[in-house]
Amino acid sequence: MQLPNHLSIKDGHLNSGTHDLVDLAAKFGTPLYVTNEDQILDNYVRYESALSSWYPHVRLLFAAKANGNLAVIRALARAGAGADVFSSGELNLALRAGMKPDRLLFNGSSKTVADLRLAVETGVRVSVDSLDELHQLSKVASDLKKTISIAFRVNPALEVPTHPKIATGLATTKFGIPAAEILSAYQAALDAPYVVPVGMHCHIGSQILDVEPFARAAAVMAKVAGEVTDIGVDLEFLDIGGGLGVPYHRETDVAPTPEEYAAAVMPVFLEGIEKAGISPEFWVEPGRWLVAESTVLLTRVNSVKRAYKTFANVDAGFNLLIRPAMYDSWHEVIMANKADMPGKEQVTIAGPICETGDIIAADRLLPVPETGDLIAVLDTGAYGFAMSSQYNGRPRSPEIMVKGDRAEVIRRGETIDDLCSTMAIPSWQQE
Ligand code: LLP
Repeated sequence: MQLPNHLSIKDGHLNSGTHDLVDLAAKFGTPLYVTNEDQILDNYVRYESALSSWYPHVRLLFAAKANGNLAVIRALARAGAGADVFSSGELNLALRAGMKPDRLLFNGSSKTVADLRLAVETGVRVSVDSLDELHQLSKVASDLKKTISIAFRVNPALEVPTHPKIATGLATTKFGIPAAEILSAYQAALDAPYVVPVGMHCHIGSQILDVEPFARAAAVMAKVAGEVTDIGVDLEFLDIGGGLGVPYHRETDVAPTPEEYAAAVMPVFLEGIEKAGISPEFWVEPGRWLVAESTVLLTRVNSVKRAYKTFANVDAGFNLLIRPAMYDSWHEVIMANKADMPGKEQVTIAGPICETGDIIAADRLLPVPETGDLIAVLDTGAYGFAMSSQYNGRPRSPEIMVKGDRAEVIRRGETIDDLCSTMAIPSWQQE
């Protein structure tokens, strides 16, 4: 299997960089998320270079929803990234991680007035998702007497090859304004007080393993950008979203590289903006591609049961990694303490949650499992911890980050007290 660059096998153990993952699990306990910062930085540089070799005015906005840990966002901020933020919470995380407001785009299809107020106060750009939202934003900005720069999210009505739950640019989705109505939306923005339209945004979906849909999205965007320019909008940026997929099936997936993505998208973008006579910045919002492969989830085998199948019952379930249960996603698993042993038995890695669907990986050929073995679940840096919960009364695990010979906690594990800390017993139950 082709491992991510940061992973290697030494003396039978899986390592991340110079760190033996078996030792890290012993030191920090399991379950444990381990993120390799250098892998994130390498991915960022590669993505950025692939695009900027075609066009100098490129900006990468990390999709903070993929991994909201401050240390991950800060690593990317220090490398020069901005962020796509989808809530006031993500906006605050990005600012606290050190990102500047002018590097942030506040996305979202259902913002509150408080969200809009925060956007105006902090001076981020807002991707507006409806005319109703435009008018609310204009009112908030007028009340604060502060101008806000906006984009509209275009619904490009594109079918894409991915899981239906994460195809975001279909005509039927809740996201964006139909392309046919976009001109009147920009006209309304030109007319609205304290609002300046400066950009255009779209997103077609996530985990897409084909570059052609992105080229189609760029074509739609460039065409609409030309029309919008003709009515007097001065476009400073076109943002074609994130979405480049990763090869979760490491044995078989053929995943496009950022270079292939750039070679498909940039000529379409460049031709389109030339036709429109404009030179806006080119923005993208990758989440998964930057961070997925940087992280492993380490989980310990509590018990082995040979029943209908061989189950290795581990201490992490869909409370910590919901992707397999939610999207039938595949994550490679490696027995970190027997990493050089050949596969001998079909093993199903089952989580501790009280639901039949709590299976991390089904029927994988692995070394014979024993109690105490350590399973590494690969490619869990995107939408892993970010989608975790306390379901079944399970405190969330710690996250650690490694870099060089250092390994530090970037989020402490929760305790039972944490489970209770936001709850209260109502007065009548105390009488
Ligand atoms: N920008 C916008 C507006 C988005 O909606 C998304 C993802 C991204 C950027 C980042 O897309 P990426 O480069 O990561 O594909 N929980 C799902 C993925 C949901 C993605 C939703 N939007 C999963 O675990 O597969």
